[in-house]
Amino acid sequence: MNKTGFIFDLDGVIVDTAKYHYLAWRKLANELGFEFTQEQNELFKGVSRKRCLEILLEIGNVKASQEQFSRWLVEKNEDYLSLIEEMDESEILPDVLKVLQFLKKHNMPIALGSASKNARPILEKVKLMDYFDVIVDGTHVAKAKPDPEVFLIAAKQLGVPPKDCIVFEDAVAGIEAANNAGMLSIGIGDDKVLAEAKFVFANFTEIDNQFLNKLIGLTP
Ligand code: G6P
Ligand code: MG
Repeated sequence: MNKTGFIFDLDGVIVDTAKYHYLAWRKLANELGFEFTQEQNELFKGVSRKRCLEILLEIGNVKASQEQFSRWLVEKNEDYLSLIEEMDESEILPDVLKVLQFLKKHNMPIALGSASKNARPILEKVKLMDYFDVIVDGTHVAKAKPDPEVFLIAAKQLGVPPKDCIVFEDAVAGIEAANNAGMLSIGIGDDKVLAEAKFVFANFTEIDNQFLNKLIGLTP
């Protein structure tokens, strides 16, 4: 029997870094003289840093020179990095470890598939590096989600055909990317928002061993 490959998004699936991204973007928006709400921050989930800044400037109706654009990208990331500096294992979302340990116990290939260029340092901070056989992050991809590139690279590196891969995602663009890759998509979050996902759970505490056994093909 073929092995199933498991691909995890990072932000909003493994750790709740969306709040830190939000604070850093809000600081920049405020410096530029406008407000940036939590609701607007939803649009930023799964979206590359560069695209986020483009959207932010559209929201604030701010025009930027190339030089300003590059400077603000750096500034936002520096603020974000200082916000996540103290991050540790306590910020791993509930029952993520339970699922990772279950998959490891059954020798399932596991990958990270994230748009973030900060994925590695974050996994190191929360001490989860050892669970991942493959890490594909924002430094490896040219096309952003909903393009399937990030997940297809992960599948290739895992040595598992895309149709045998399962993706955990919290972003609409990420679910679309998984579906576009021909993989089984599992949404983590609101089922109304993630309506395109094959299955949706509010969080990993809702995923039980019976469901995990099904995913790894132990039970029909
Ligand atoms: C994830 C987050 C996005 C973030 C992107 C890039 O996909 O959900 O909100 O913009 O990563 O993150 P980075 O750490 O490279 O700025
Ligand atoms: Mg995410």
